[in-house]
Amino acid sequence: MNILIIGGAGFIGCNTADHYLKKGSSVTVFDNFSRKGTEQNLRWLQSNHPNVQVVRGDIRRDNTLLQQSVERADVVFHFAAQVAVTTSVINPREDFEINALGAFNVLESIRLSAGKPILVFASTNKVYGGMENVQTQEGDRRFSYVNLPYGCSEEQPLDFHSPYGCSKGAADQYVRDYARIYGLKTIVFRQSCIYGYRQFGVEDQGWVAHFTISAALGRPVTVYGNGKQVRDLLFTTDLVHAYDLAIQKIDVTAGQVYNIGGGPDKTLSLLELMEFLETSFGKKMNSSFSTWRPGDQPVFICDIRKAKAEFGWEPNVGVKEGIALLADWVKGNTKEFEAIYF
Ligand SMILES: NC(=O)c1ccc[n+]([C@@H]2O[C@H](COP(=O)([O-])OP(=O)(O)OC[C@H]3O[C@@H](n4cnc5c(N)ncnc54)[C@H](O)[C@@H]3O)[C@@H](O)[C@H]2O)c1
Repeated sequence: MNILIIGGAGFIGCNTADHYLKKGSSVTVFDNFSRKGTEQNLRWLQSNHPNVQVVRGDIRRDNTLLQQSVERADVVFHFAAQVAVTTSVINPREDFEINALGAFNVLESIRLSAGKPILVFASTNKVYGGMENVQTQEGDRRFSYVNLPYGCSEEQPLDFHSPYGCSKGAADQYVRDYARIYGLKTIVFRQSCIYGYRQFGVEDQGWVAHFTISAALGRPVTVYGNGKQVRDLLFTTDLVHAYDLAIQKIDVTAGQVYNIGGGPDKTLSLLELMEFLETSFGKKMNSSFSTWRPGDQPVFICDIRKAKAEFGWEPNVGVKEGIALLADWVKGNTKEFEAIYF
């Protein structure tokens, strides 16, 4: 298979590239290398897979490069994005151009291609907004849902909140509609919190990695809100497995939207993560508290039953196991982090 990974030098992108290269596919990474750590990710990919192909391009404007790359592909993953809510509030135009216009450019290049490859699009739980209509309760260490034992399903009304929510939500709907209107084989994955190796998390995005790396390097962290926010966590190997299965079942999954995350069995609050890291690294974290950030949901947990029913997917890596794997990777690579973070 010829695989094109747009945003392939990022966290999810390089893990997906590694997976398909190991399976013997031909992989092209298309990226503008704007995110810190992407050059390191590329070097890591190239050292393991000298045959990986690289196109340096920007989805906002390099339409010819994009078209040429798409023409050679059987499957396209679209991961390239401006990924932080905070940054989107500061610079909404840039956020719109990367996330909405960029995704539109990707879709158009597929619509105009000869082979019409499959498109897997990484959307986000942020398209459901603050979910104010859903009752939550506050416990000692965490929030929980009152009436959603299986988590939030795809039936939850869309409610774009923040420029990031709007730009990703617009892309999510375009991707779905290009399946309806043009018959393209597109799949939307509304992903919740993904974590794993090679995630260079920062305060604005990638909280699990941000807290783990900060714990390792002894850097201060700010908790926005009371730290009882809960997310379901999905390790990258489980995510990539979901991509694989959904592509194999493209007759069923084309034009569909799936909530993809750890589900109700794999959840963690910020306070619980900090406790776990303090034990793992054997030292107290240097943390302080500040006010809530816009659009931050007290709880988000995916209902993953549709993915199970339609393409037989379930996550395997438990939260404690996954955080321990991440912490070990961080401990073994502090030099790499120092180069990126200092
Ligand atoms: N990580 C998560 O927990 C999570 C959760 C939900 C959704 N997502 C979505 O998954 C996708 C990948 O997330 P990630 O965590 O790997 O982020 P990432 O920042 O590590 O990867 C994004 C990649 O896109 C590239 N990029 C940015 N702007 C570009 C442009 N204009 N042209 C070409 N390349 C560009 C960056 O250099 C980077 O390599 C994103 O679309 C994100 O919205 C991620």
